[in-house]
Amino acid sequence: MNVIRFSDLCANGSAKGKRVFIRADLNVPQDDAGNITEDTRIRASVPCIQMALAAGAAVMVTSHLGRPTEGVFKPEDSLAPVARRLGELLGHPYQNGVPLIANWVDSAGNADVAGITVAPGQVVLLENCRINKGEKKNNEDLARKMAALCDIYVNDAFGTAHRAEGTTYGMAQFAPIACAGPLLAAEIDAIGKALAAPKRPLVAIVAGSKVSTKLTIL
Ligand code: 3PG
Ligand code: MG
Repeated sequence: MNVIRFSDLCANGSAKGKRVFIRADLNVPQDDAGNITEDTRIRASVPCIQMALAAGAAVMVTSHLGRPTEGVFKPEDSLAPVARRLGELLGHPYQNGVPLIANWVDSAGNADVAGITVAPGQVVLLENCRINKGEKKNNEDLARKMAALCDIYVNDAFGTAHRAEGTTYGMAQFAPIACAGPLLAAEIDAIGKALAAPKRPLVAIVAGSKVSTKLTIL
């Protein structure tokens, strides 16, 4: 499949000094106390963020966490634990946590950097995108406001790329440049190979931690 790849934009200098918005899937499990019990998705998202930082971009990252009620902020829906773990993984100067910005959509109408202070070579985490009203139903006004935050929109959220939500779909329509992050690109490459030139004999395995919400199993 022919898609713009973020890795190419970084390699050819197109991301330098640009505001890059990465839609990641940082939807990790937590215990009752809010401790992350499994951080694979955060670790898997680090290469895209590091690539953007190394390319000299001003980096904004967001993700959903769970399925919160839109328009209602509850502490248990916060990405705060994710910000801490992501900071540990990124290391200096984020070892105490990546800055977490709340109410980031309200600021989207501003003309400058839309109220989100982030300089080239820095990263901030934008609070749980599913708290924003209109995210789930891909409200066009919301998608346009969020797209206005960036020069380059990167979808690196393969785990939720099947949903047509504001940060997974709408933004890609309205951002100046929309591209695939390394996780999404790897999946596109894999499915492309499997469809175009599968090695035979062929076995297809369908699986997932929540496959019961996708398929009826008798
Ligand atoms: C998942 O864990 O299935 C993905 O992060 C997507 O979350 P969702 O099923 O709530 O859209
Ligand atoms: Mg799911």
